[in-house]
Amino acid sequence: MTMATNPNRARFSSELEALHMKPLWERVMRLKPGTAAAPVIWRWQDVQPHLMRAAELITTQEAERRVLMLENPALKGSTFATTTLYAGLQVILPGEVARTHRHAPNALRLIVDGSGAYTAVDGERTTMRPGDFVTTPGWTWHDHGNLGSEPVVWLDGLDTAFANLFGAHFREDYPQETQAVKRAEGDAGARYGAGLLPIEHRARGQASPLLSYPFDRTRAALEQLAKSGAPDPAHGYKLRYANPATGGHAFPTMAVFMQWLPKGHKGSRYRSTDGAVYCVVEGRGSVVMDGQRWDFSPHDVFVAPSWEFHELHAATDCVLFSYTDRAAQEALGFWREETA
Ligand SMILES: [Fe+2]
Repeated sequence: MTMATNPNRARFSSELEALHMKPLWERVMRLKPGTAAAPVIWRWQDVQPHLMRAAELITTQEAERRVLMLENPALKGSTFATTTLYAGLQVILPGEVARTHRHAPNALRLIVDGSGAYTAVDGERTTMRPGDFVTTPGWTWHDHGNLGSEPVVWLDGLDTAFANLFGAHFREDYPQETQAVKRAEGDAGARYGAGLLPIEHRARGQASPLLSYPFDRTRAALEQLAKSGAPDPAHGYKLRYANPATGGHAFPTMAVFMQWLPKGHKGSRYRSTDGAVYCVVEGRGSVVMDGQRWDFSPHDVFVAPSWEFHELHAATDCVLFSYTDRAAQEALGFWREETA
């Protein structure tokens, strides 16, 4: 007689149910690495016309943030790209403002297309240019505006799932649409982005105090690396964005990266417990996941799920931005990786 057909045990199980208890020996839950998230790609050629259509259909005033969320097809209803990470593409037209608010989740921006928009964080504005990585630490007031002459699109990455999981998702609106500018542009860069620190630096939180990591500097660093030494077999030349005051990750939850794959790079199979959201900054190539090849071009966004083997191939020199929940996993002792 099997466990399922033993009438005494079945009766026992149903008695327990009324008391909101379950026998551990009957569990059917997944007890293995990896998550329910599936590999997926959002191609710019499909996404871009819909962003422009959204810009016709709704104003930033009505929408607050005009964003198309990138929801993993295996996580329907979650609004998340992976089980822990939110990803969305936001568009702002010339003259528009996305009003000031703050929330507990940390947010990152990777500027995808267009120039002339700014993000303001706690009284400082930073101009956003393609490839720049801009931080919005949790609970900082932030707004966006477009002072330029073309639509600007960026990728939003948030650790919303952590705030939800912990029951700590607070949010608040600022009394005015736009917050007052209190510091000249470049202030945070001068204090934290030049290999120097204020002599009496006091961290206001765990996220990086650097507001923007400009792409020209990141790209130059990667290009220089690519001239000296062999690439990593899986990652090519890959750097992580650091909190300059601690050397740790840019956020307490999210790790953020930029990597250079030289033309012809055929990356080895690699997996880690941190599922990644990638955005292609430059170049063309492909990622092999789950036995399938997914070709990518500039501005495409794709997900390499937790503990899923993947390989990165570069048809041209490629620059890839990515973010994961590795910072949280390392802090809590869960992070692992494997090369094949
Ligand atoms: Fe926000």
